[in-house]
Amino acid sequence: MTFQVAVFASGRGSNFRVLADHPDRGTGPHLWEVALLVSDREDAPVLELARDRGIPSCIVPVSERSAHEVARETLAALEEAQIQIVLLAGYLRLIPPPVVEAFRGRMLNIHPALLPGFGGKGMYGSKVHEAVLAAGVRISGPTIHLVDERYDRGPILAQWPVPVLPGDTPASLATRVNQVEHELFPAVVDELARSLDEGRAPRPIPGTGDALRSHFSLTSTPDLP
Ligand code: GRF
Repeated sequence: MTFQVAVFASGRGSNFRVLADHPDRGTGPHLWEVALLVSDREDAPVLELARDRGIPSCIVPVSERSAHEVARETLAALEEAQIQIVLLAGYLRLIPPPVVEAFRGRMLNIHPALLPGFGGKGMYGSKVHEAVLAAGVRISGPTIHLVDERYDRGPILAQWPVPVLPGDTPASLATRVNQVEHELFPAVVDELARSLDEGRAPRPIPGTGDALRSHFSLTSTPDLP
């Protein structure tokens, strides 16, 4: 069975691109595939990435509309595309409670810092990296968590440490974090899809891989349980 995945995004869409291209669409049976893009903005650059790949997209405006109306329209679009998993990849709106409820345990968000620090309402984009630099922490990195009714607060499934380097700007740190997001997000979706297939809870995933090794100049990463 191939799980049908919807990605919600408001902006540039580099994570959407990586998710949509993983696994290569059309090369055989896969555990999951991106079947729908949902955006709140009709001028979001990510829409063009979907168009290029022939992935249907759907705009659900959020400004000045009731959560009830947004939920009804969102759920209708997800149902029509037979979506089973939802991924928030740079989606800047709070998901209305009925949508959270319908996809509880099957909806992931990626945040560009190590939660529970540097998250919550209003913490998105360069504001996150500015706060990380202002706090003087030496390690940042993406967090992927299950979504609940609060911004950035659901159970954490994966985090990946990324060093904050001397002279970093919000832009340079964002680029370094974004690079490992692209390795981590598909790996966590793999695990979520496997866990749903096997009827068990998803296991937390340690951050490993080439990007981690090169950031920390390691020749190997420890075997973690
Ligand atoms: C990512 O850094 C993600 O962590 C955050 O929003 C950013 C989206 O980037 N939630 P992109 O649009 O996928 O390039």
